[in-house]
Amino acid sequence: MKVLLFNGSPREHGNTSMALSEIGKALDADGIGSEMFWIGNKPVRGCAACNACGTRQLGRCVFDDDICNRLAARIAEADGFVVGSPTYYGQPNGAALAVLQRVFYSNRSCIEGKPVASVAVCRRGGSTATFQCLNMPFAMLNCVIVGSQYWNVAFGRTPGEVQQDAEGMQTMRTLGHNLAWLLKNLNREGATPRSPLEPWAPMHFIR
Ligand SMILES: Cc1cc2nc3c(=O)[nH]c(=O)nc-3n(C[C@H](O)[C@H](O)[C@H](O)COP(=O)(O)O)c2cc1C
Repeated sequence: MKVLLFNGSPREHGNTSMALSEIGKALDADGIGSEMFWIGNKPVRGCAACNACGTRQLGRCVFDDDICNRLAARIAEADGFVVGSPTYYGQPNGAALAVLQRVFYSNRSCIEGKPVASVAVCRRGGSTATFQCLNMPFAMLNCVIVGSQYWNVAFGRTPGEVQQDAEGMQTMRTLGHNLAWLLKNLNREGATPRSPLEPWAPMHFIR
């Protein structure tokens, strides 16, 4: 079993990466593999709302010139997904949000029903808003959102400072252990499959 750790920071080895790595170590200690996927620092598009993915049933974003479809493919292969982002003005990094919105809209099945978690790092404040924002898609994609001993936030400014946030790093380790425990139980022999989903009953509030 494998968990994909998405680093939504333009800093490859910054505080978000370190917080995610701490989760990876706890997963590893419990016998669950993990892989990091870095957003990189090349431009990513926002959703153009062209709906080509849905109306043409592409199952991927029609724009293939950035990481969107590669990320979706990696999420699809993984048993669990953790998204991490730095806090920018009390929000996730805009590029991370842009690409995640396209991944989930164009390839819902890559994530639907999986165990997931969000992680936010910041210098001083706004990480809980970032954390909530990152969790929003998961809550409407039938995912199982995994918690920890505290909200999944950690503090640090320059790369490496997050290591000094002992409680934040412990929160990450606890999250990793909780995720491992859930994954093992969901995949154990004789585990109960979930009930089938009802067909979607859309109601667009148009009178
Ligand atoms: C554009 C920008 C906006 C930021 N806004 C906030 C903020 O609202 N609150 C905060 O505490 N830190 C803020 N920070 C600091 C980062 O969240 C912090 O340095 C974080 O550790 C960076 O994570 P990284 O090393 O993974 O990139 C901001 C940094 C940048 C570059």
